Amino acid sequence: MYFTANEARKQFPALQQKINNRAVYFFDGPGGTQVPESVLSAMTHYLGQYNANLGGQFFSSRKTVAVVNKARQSAQALLNANSEDNIIFGPNMTSLTFQLSRALSRDWQVKDEIIVTSLDHYANVSPWQQAAEDKGAYIRQARINEQDCTLDYDHLLALINNKTKLVAITYASNLTGSIVDVQRIVNAAHAVGALVYVDAVHYAAHGLIDVQALDCDFLLCSAYKFFGPHLAIAYIAPRWLQILKPYKVEPATNSGPGRFETGTLSFEALAGLIASVEYLAQWADPSLSLRLRLQHSFAQYHQHEMQLSRYFLSKIAGQEKITLFGITNPSQLEQRTPTFALRITAITPIKVAQELGRSNICVWNGHCYAQGLCTQLGILDSGGVIRIGFMHYNTEQEIDQLFTALTTLMEGIK
Ligand SMILES: Cc1ncc(COP(=O)(O)O)c(C=O)c1O
Repeated sequence: MYFTANEARKQFPALQQKINNRAVYFFDGPGGTQVPESVLSAMTHYLGQYNANLGGQFFSSRKTVAVVNKARQSAQALLNANSEDNIIFGPNMTSLTFQLSRALSRDWQVKDEIIVTSLDHYANVSPWQQAAEDKGAYIRQARINEQDCTLDYDHLLALINNKTKLVAITYASNLTGSIVDVQRIVNAAHAVGALVYVDAVHYAAHGLIDVQALDCDFLLCSAYKFFGPHLAIAYIAPRWLQILKPYKVEPATNSGPGRFETGTLSFEALAGLIASVEYLAQWADPSLSLRLRLQHSFAQYHQHEMQLSRYFLSKIAGQEKITLFGITNPSQLEQRTPTFALRITAITPIKVAQELGRSNICVWNGHCYAQGLCTQLGILDSGGVIRIGFMHYNTEQEIDQLFTALTTLMEGIK
């Protein structure tokens, strides 16, 4: 069973619809992807037949426990965690990060140092800034290289010293797609005893994560960015699982991942997560393990996404009115996801997004919470960028439609 975008597309009701009798073009995947039928039906099946809480002496409660356990195993396979106990769930990455930052900062001291980056979504900056402020610790922000919007490793590595408690980095920028060499930063941070907290929300749909290979301390992602429901996953390295003291209600469980989970989880979202990981793993021999099927499937997504990036870059070459931020060299595509940030001369990003939106072409505009990056590029106050993000369900024909619409728009401003 081999992946093709067209085979994948058949599984998504949203991609078949017409709005005002016209096809729809979803290039807003970095903001949230569409959802396949299998995920939709897993969620309604759970809610329609088993909706219950944990710990009851009856079938639907037992089923709910089974859903939670299976969801942990699915997330374990997706991230290659050592054990399902290293997986915790929460409503979204932002809430989990505020929660974990509170627990992690308990023992920070005045003048400790915390490092964040300008490449990051502010969900991985503000929680650390605020926790540092509470403790009188310093925040240092690593810069980006402006010419290609990659992380300035020299700057970041120079910031790491023996006062550093934690380095919060993104795995890939949600604005320019720049991928970060996480392992390099983990090695430098661990050498001084600092922890590394990785935001993999943007990366997760594009590359298969291996937390054991990265050796990071924490890694977060959100299922609604990889064809699943609104639900976030945090990986906590075994060394922190029992040591960290989360803020929680008594007498809730004191062992295992449940220690980190407050209140009732969205069980329907967990049912959806199981189905979304199965969706991701489907383009491989079904007799293989889930992790191996994920590996085979992601290798095919990667090929397709690289081709989309190459095609997009070839269409954009020579377009004088378009300024593209980020890696543009086709030989460096391994260092980026197919997420593109651009501006068009003399039209504000919001105007471009509005005009495209009229043709059912969904793109994002603004800073997309990557304020550090937009500030360093000097475009924060002038509307940020237009973000065009491709997922494996997008096609070259869709990119053609996008460029037809962009050309019409640019001709209008001659
Ligand atoms: C890179 C990145 N990090 C974090 C977030 C926040 O994720 P959540 O909506 O799960 O809080 C987003 C959301 O757009 C994101 O793109």
